[in-house]
Amino acid sequence: MANENEFEYDFESRIVSSSFDKKEDTEIEPSLRPRTLDEYIGQDKVKENLKVYIDAAKQRGDVLDHVLLYGPPGLGKTTLSAVIANEMGVNIRVTSGPAIEKSGDLVALLTNLGENDILFIDEIHRLPKTVEEILYPAMEDRVVTLIIGKGPSARSIPLSLSRFTLIGATTRAGQISTPLRDRFGVVLKLELYGVEDLTTIVKRSAGILGIPVDEYGAREIAARSRGTPRIANRLLKRVRDFAQVCGKGVIDREIADYALTKLEIDRLGLDAVDRRMLEVIIRFYGGGPVGLETLAATVGEEAVTIEDVYEPYLMQIGFLSRTPRGRCVTRLAYDHLGIPCPGQAPAGEQMEFFSEKSEE
Ligand code: ADE
Repeated sequence: MANENEFEYDFESRIVSSSFDKKEDTEIEPSLRPRTLDEYIGQDKVKENLKVYIDAAKQRGDVLDHVLLYGPPGLGKTTLSAVIANEMGVNIRVTSGPAIEKSGDLVALLTNLGENDILFIDEIHRLPKTVEEILYPAMEDRVVTLIIGKGPSARSIPLSLSRFTLIGATTRAGQISTPLRDRFGVVLKLELYGVEDLTTIVKRSAGILGIPVDEYGAREIAARSRGTPRIANRLLKRVRDFAQVCGKGVIDREIADYALTKLEIDRLGLDAVDRRMLEVIIRFYGGGPVGLETLAATVGEEAVTIEDVYEPYLMQIGFLSRTPRGRCVTRLAYDHLGIPCPGQAPAGEQMEFFSEKSEE
């Protein structure tokens, strides 16, 4: 257990392999990372429940149950895990599914954990199957079995582990096997952020970075950040450059709009790829339905990228629907793109097609 003020969250010393995907994992720069649940803005339902689980575990002097966090990328799953560790007063080790190639890598990680420590595995759905199977007894009974040697003379040595919490993060809860999912006592879904929360995040980040921003400037950046803090923080820095060189130094609505228009991010936060995807569905497939793989091939993106990165926001703002037969563009999207909508049902009626998961 770490002492009260210790907060181990140094990505450089925590990485377990050179293939660790820093692009995904270093969600926000260290100075901007909230450290406590109170500093962590938004995700109120998740925070409320987490606070209860953390307080209860601390009162009992117990370890926190294993936690699965899922939701689109950029919402702060890694950051939230570090907050949990800080609130629990324990160390956190950060790794990712693709970085753990061999069973031995995971055994080494697990056996090196201290009492009550947290092991955070990002993209846990990408763990190799043989590695994943090591997690089952580790999570349930705190044991791993070390196999020494090969063939008939191989010996298996059970090793007991310290009490620990596994936090798994994934963009795709549906891809986690049932035995693994069932071993998480706490399953939390992170949602895209609303404009109010993102405005607060932009103002907080601007304050920390010493960037002058007014309410309307912050709101403009927030509204164009696709519900994602990582994007909001990135845009804040780019808008700062425009404010410094072309504006008065302060980010107001006018300079934010100017900068974001230069960055080809429209009033709703859609970028060139979003617009192209919608236009492809409209022009090539009559507005849909079109299958995910076909769409991916036509726009030249990977299907998983479309599913994880582009679709959640387009669905959230009601521009895209998933039907059993494929993706459909809604009337709202036609209107936004300024393309006449050929006798389509009004946007409200499209909503009934919304479903969590397509059946492709
Ligand atoms: N920066 C990025 N995400 C944040 C959050 N949820 N709260 C506070 N600051 C953040």
